[in-house]
Amino acid sequence: MTPRPTVIDCDPGTDDAIALWLALASPELDVRLVTAVGGNVGLEHTLPNARAIVALAGKQVPVVGGADRPLLGRFEDAAHVHGDNGLAGVVLPEGPPAAPGLAADAIRDLLRAAAPRSVTLIGLGPATNLGLALATEPALAGRVAEIVLMTGAVGEGNATPSAEFNAWNDPEALAIVLGAGAPVTLATLEVTGQALCTPAHIAALREAGQGACLTAAARIWERVKPSRRSGGRGHEQHDACAVAWAVAPHLFRQVSVLAEVDCGPGIGRGRTAIDRWRRGGRGAEAVLLETLEAEAFFALLIARLAALP
Ligand code: BDR
Ligand code: CA
Repeated sequence: MTPRPTVIDCDPGTDDAIALWLALASPELDVRLVTAVGGNVGLEHTLPNARAIVALAGKQVPVVGGADRPLLGRFEDAAHVHGDNGLAGVVLPEGPPAAPGLAADAIRDLLRAAAPRSVTLIGLGPATNLGLALATEPALAGRVAEIVLMTGAVGEGNATPSAEFNAWNDPEALAIVLGAGAPVTLATLEVTGQALCTPAHIAALREAGQGACLTAAARIWERVKPSRRSGGRGHEQHDACAVAWAVAPHLFRQVSVLAEVDCGPGIGRGRTAIDRWRRGGRGAEAVLLETLEAEAFFALLIARLAALP
């Protein structure tokens, strides 16, 4: 098995932290670059968090900062879910400084040096950095093997009745990424809602070891409030679903769809229109992740977290 060259763009973020550790612990992926975007909290937190998460995993992957706001419109965070520091108040040891430059430039540099259809881009936050990279040098989409995004919802959103948080934060950037011409896979709220972390999973994680990453992950899980969407049963591991698709696709069932995002100013802003029956004949080709084998997902996640320092 040759590990897939991978870029992770993220806004850590409690579930981003878990997703990053899953990626860094997975031999299926060769994580070459981590980029940070403002999202769950401001870039002044997401960038240091990303640096700290990578360092705690004992990896020397470059971490580069990017956009601190969407292409258009106003930046709004989700600190009410992720806490003021983005990690539910858990403080990690500081990581080394960020690598110089800006995320979109770093992504383009990496793609330019890569073979055709070789790089996996995993987007775990608002799509601003990825959108900037692909809009400013569109031919680089040809170097991308797959773009995996945690974004969107088939039905009800979580940021507004229409829109999921990442899509709602920067719909214009998401439209660029969907239309870039590279294969896209979507982990929407419907599949991430199946990755529901319950007290039983937290106990299983605690029992799996005592490494620094595992312990930090357990503390984060213990501090995130159960979601209203789950009826208080647990909290969703949204972003780890996107990474899990790249690591263990057999855990999912998927369907091919057309996908489009509403960039209008009204109540539908950020809504992802997912057309599995191709009724509208418009939108970008995408793969929609539909079902997840949740217990196998948590077993994999816990085993991988336990393997980290
Ligand atoms: C997405 O929004 C963020 O709050 C999470 O980190 C995840 O990427 C879920 O809607
Ligand atoms: Ca995220």
